[in-house]
Amino acid sequence: MAIRSIRTEGDEILKKKSKKVEVIDEKVIELIKDMIETLHKYDGVGLAAVQVGILKQIVVIQEEKDKPIYILINPEIISQSGKQIVEEGCLSFPNKFAKIERPEKIKIRALNEKGEKIEITAKGLLAQAISHEIDHLNGEVFIDKIIPGTLEIVKQ
Ligand code: NI
Repeated sequence: MAIRSIRTEGDEILKKKSKKVEVIDEKVIELIKDMIETLHKYDGVGLAAVQVGILKQIVVIQEEKDKPIYILINPEIISQSGKQIVEEGCLSFPNKFAKIERPEKIKIRALNEKGEKIEITAKGLLAQAISHEIDHLNGEVFIDKIIPGTLEIVKQ
């Protein structure tokens, strides 16, 4: 396993759409393991493969240490409803935080790392994280959707 370097603001790859994973082979499994290690290293909630420079539809999400790790391959939104105004950040924008509107509830389908079909219905932070990570797969970054006037830049 290895920590991968995270692509940050200004890197054009962040605006590109990721491609569907056709085969979950050893390379994909290694990528997923590295993504989880990288997520933990930088203490994030979610990470999309594009953020480590790979345009594949893979995301990993973990709300906090004791909670389950969700590995989502080729995730698709089935439905979303409600809205929540939340404070958000992104490992690709390490010094920026802002308020953004996310669905309160989201239902998705995806494959897990074993290639099994899974469905997840999420609320609150998990719904926020899933919405944020699926945006990454579509080449969308949170900073382009924030509520105007709420951007905070943290000096590091
Ligand atoms: Ni992000």
